[in-house]
Amino acid sequence: MTGVSFTVHAAEGAARTGVLTLGRGAVRTPAFMPVGTAGTVKAMYVDQVRDLGADIILGNTYHLMLRPGAERVAALGGLHAFSRWQGPILTDSGGFQVMSLAGLRKLDKDGVTFKSHVDGSMHRLTPARSVEIQTLLDSDIVMQLDECVRLPTDRANIERAMRLSLDWAERSKAAFGTQPGKAIFGIVQGGDDKALRIESAEALAAMDFPGLAVGGLAVGEPQAVMLDMIETVVPHLPAGKPRYLMGVGTPDDLVESVARGIDMFDCVMPTRAGRHGLAYSRFGKINLKNARHAEDPRPLDEASACPAARDYSRAYLHHLTRANEILGMMLLSWVNLAYYQELMAGMRAAIAAGRFADFRAEVREGWARGDL
Ligand code: GUN
Repeated sequence: MTGVSFTVHAAEGAARTGVLTLGRGAVRTPAFMPVGTAGTVKAMYVDQVRDLGADIILGNTYHLMLRPGAERVAALGGLHAFSRWQGPILTDSGGFQVMSLAGLRKLDKDGVTFKSHVDGSMHRLTPARSVEIQTLLDSDIVMQLDECVRLPTDRANIERAMRLSLDWAERSKAAFGTQPGKAIFGIVQGGDDKALRIESAEALAAMDFPGLAVGGLAVGEPQAVMLDMIETVVPHLPAGKPRYLMGVGTPDDLVESVARGIDMFDCVMPTRAGRHGLAYSRFGKINLKNARHAEDPRPLDEASACPAARDYSRAYLHHLTRANEILGMMLLSWVNLAYYQELMAGMRAAIAAGRFADFRAEVREGWARGDL
């Protein structure tokens, strides 16, 4: 793919660190992409997101096509100009959000027709239209349209969705063509069935996508099943291409997935949890709604480089959260994205130094110890 490259600089076991270079900039891997669903990483300024060390953020075809509309964003100069995020943006293709958010929906072999959750209007996404919308948004990494099934479900349903997704992978890739400095990723499906996962991975690898995602995980199965699926799929993905685990996860999920060869992640967890009074930290998850924080003058983490974690008392964060104040959501989203980016930077440095196994043990120890 012209103007796109991926270089692995160091590896330890299956874990690796490297750089994905796109026309709009470099993405250091393993990377966590903050989710900017509707053209904003909720409750965060773009400059804050950048200063935390995020090289790339995610946007959603589904939300942006409904509001404000892809053609309108294109007329206003694309999603980067519109939102003021100047780095690379990966956009999800819409199918997953249709399944979780849209009202009435009808899937056929050519696409999905659905009712908007915003105003009840009817819309249709096909592989070609999804790619067209992502191109109008000026996305740097376009995702193929796919179908993700929730687990548990029967094998026939998993197989049907996997084969449909393979067909849509080809159609999406053809619609994308070649776009200098930009990439399209295919998405492995196959639920919790190893043979279907391997078949999906091998078929996509043969299509020569510049990167491949593992989808259909963290959709109701236990973590052990998810990690087992990653271990099953990774050996069938091209070693020289980035591997993106979609919609995952907790800090522990990230570390365990990197250990199994994943390079990229996105998840609403740090921002969504922050809006609900939950903080992620070196000491694990802290629920600031809990009354035990009401008179605690200590910050969340005095050693953090993030002002929200370092300079505000737990008592104040507790108060803001209990009072449903906007600042509480802003501070805790900041705390959580800072911790996620710190964790990724820590993994990158540890892999480069050949001490990822120690790093993994250290972070687990910190989470287990708790916030004292
Ligand atoms: N986000 C989380 N999981 C998935 C998936 O399987 N497919 C897509 N397109 N997006 C996702």
